[in-house]
Amino acid sequence: MPDLTQIPVWKKPRTVLITGATGGIGSALAESYAAQGQVLILHGRDTTRLAELSQRCEALGARVVTLTFDLRDACVVIRELRQISQREPIDLALVNAGVTRMLGDGEAVESWDAVRAVIGVNIDGALATVAGVLPAMRRRGSGQIALVSSLAAYFGLPQAPTYSASKAAVKAYGETLRVWLAPQGVAINVVLPGFVETAMTAGFNGPKPAIIPAERAARHIRKGLARNSPRIVFPRPLAWGTLWLSVLPQSLSHWIMGALGYRAPDLPPKAEDRFGPTLLSTGADRAATRGRPTSEQNVTQRTR
Ligand SMILES: NC(=O)c1ccc[n+]([C@@H]2O[C@H](COP(=O)([O-])OP(=O)(O)OC[C@H]3O[C@@H](n4cnc5c(N)ncnc54)[C@H](OP(=O)(O)O)[C@@H]3O)[C@@H](O)[C@H]2O)c1
Repeated sequence: MPDLTQIPVWKKPRTVLITGATGGIGSALAESYAAQGQVLILHGRDTTRLAELSQRCEALGARVVTLTFDLRDACVVIRELRQISQREPIDLALVNAGVTRMLGDGEAVESWDAVRAVIGVNIDGALATVAGVLPAMRRRGSGQIALVSSLAAYFGLPQAPTYSASKAAVKAYGETLRVWLAPQGVAINVVLPGFVETAMTAGFNGPKPAIIPAERAARHIRKGLARNSPRIVFPRPLAWGTLWLSVLPQSLSHWIMGALGYRAPDLPPKAEDRFGPTLLSTGADRAATRGRPTSEQNVTQRTR
């Protein structure tokens, strides 16, 4: 059956934007694309890590432009990305930045602040990034956008309800855009990783089968993007397992998840009164919330 969404893409895109380049998967992607003649637009809020990464990429021959906006501020994201798209026509945009948050540490439900923090980055931030880069790509009639979702989009992790929901939203959004934009010359890919060794997974309180290093994840992503695969899914065995969970009767899937050790914490509701949520995210988030709640994030730090 012909795939009407399969359009030609660059094997070696010249100008690549990576959001969340300061994180585990983002840095590995940046370093894998860094080469002579390459333009890298690297985004992240942690300016120290961003500067170190830029130096490493420049040493490999790339010209680097940095962006430091907070993805929760959609207006700024769209404005800055539209401006930079005029100066540096973006061939490939990797919509990679994300945060996660686990139920646990004395919580019985997710607080609204924590829910908003995850949705603000994973959904609002991702869609604003697309809104920022897409108009120039459509005008040119060429471009590629990769949206980083997760295998949790196929079957949610009981420990991370909002995170799983946000990744399912990104998957659905990307799949829909692909059909709309292929005739206009813009390729859309959805990336669905399993467990990857990064700061994000370090805080995950459940089994992490078939976990892979970030460099290997970057290789999978690059290969899938060069082929313009609609879904870039890895590692394969875990992907098949998750896909099965999504089609089996739910009661059976939940039993399997429980037997494998994926469970939401079973705590009395009162515990929530004593502890606020813990936002498991990035260096910048952790530094910003350490020891004091911030009004900017409006995330309550767990009382120690
Ligand atoms: N690691 C895994 O096992 C795994 C599995 C499936 C999917 N994923 C997805 O892969 C992507 C990358 O994950 P990772 O493991 O590399 O995570 P990570 O190491 O924690 O990095 C997250 C990145 O997101 C950026 N970020 C977070 N909040 C932000 C905000 N408000 N504004 C701007 N940037 C923000 C961080 O930048 P700063 O630190 O500079 O703020 C950082 O660069 C995410 O979308 C994640 O959901 C990861």
